[in-house]
Amino acid sequence: MEQTVNYIQEKIKEFKPQIGVILGSGLGDFADDFESIIIPYNDIPGFENSNVKGHKGQLVFAEVNGKRLVMMQGRYHFYEGHSMKTVTFPVKVMRKLGVETLIVTNAAGAVDGSFIPGELMFITDHINFMGTNPLIGMNDDSLGTRFPDMSEVYSKDLIEIAEETAEELNVEYQKGVYLSTTGPSYESPSEIKMFRMLGADAVGMSTVPEAIVARWSGMKVLGISCITNYAAGISDSPLNHQEVIDTANRVKENFKKLLAELIKKI
Ligand code: HPA
Repeated sequence: MEQTVNYIQEKIKEFKPQIGVILGSGLGDFADDFESIIIPYNDIPGFENSNVKGHKGQLVFAEVNGKRLVMMQGRYHFYEGHSMKTVTFPVKVMRKLGVETLIVTNAAGAVDGSFIPGELMFITDHINFMGTNPLIGMNDDSLGTRFPDMSEVYSKDLIEIAEETAEELNVEYQKGVYLSTTGPSYESPSEIKMFRMLGADAVGMSTVPEAIVARWSGMKVLGISCITNYAAGISDSPLNHQEVIDTANRVKENFKKLLAELIKKI
């Protein structure tokens, strides 16, 4: 960790990021719009090699609307075979760099049948359905406590700011519970029916590990899902990754506008 932080600090010099942003599938472009310092994951000691199609795999440091940001263009997924440690290491690094707020974004399927693909959902809570926990193992007391409270992972204050901003910009949004699976297979209709009974509104394959670690280490968290498709069995059509990417691309402009505006207010 020390080596990682030192390496990054040498590259970014006096720049001290305040807000971290994890850009999900199809939403990575946001980071391209600003003058920035870019560090590929593959160059950072302690970061695993990353190789997912459609994800760039780099940290982008930039000032956006008066705030200093560190953005992840591409994330590590558990379904790629990465350990939970690898998946959440960048979040710990952000914290060590001084980040106090994490905005975590993703593409997700609608479990609530009233949602419409293309809408954004502000995450009010999550259900960790991955069968493991990123905090298993020795606790790093310099970041957080052994048994951290998870009663408000997603900051109510930040949700309020996000709602206000969405209303100002006339961006349609929902609020709801995000359930994470390991993937990489999409869910069966029966699983989606079960997830609905458990209280889920959206389903995806990321975000929960990063949010748990962020909260554990004392960050405020805002979670935004881009609803890209109906989950299995909610509509008759089969699921595919291209649909997820296409919808995310369609929503991108609204998403970017919203993100830039709400960053001003954090
Ligand atoms: N299920 C799981 N993950 C997803 C989905 C889905 O329907 N859509 C986008 N990511």
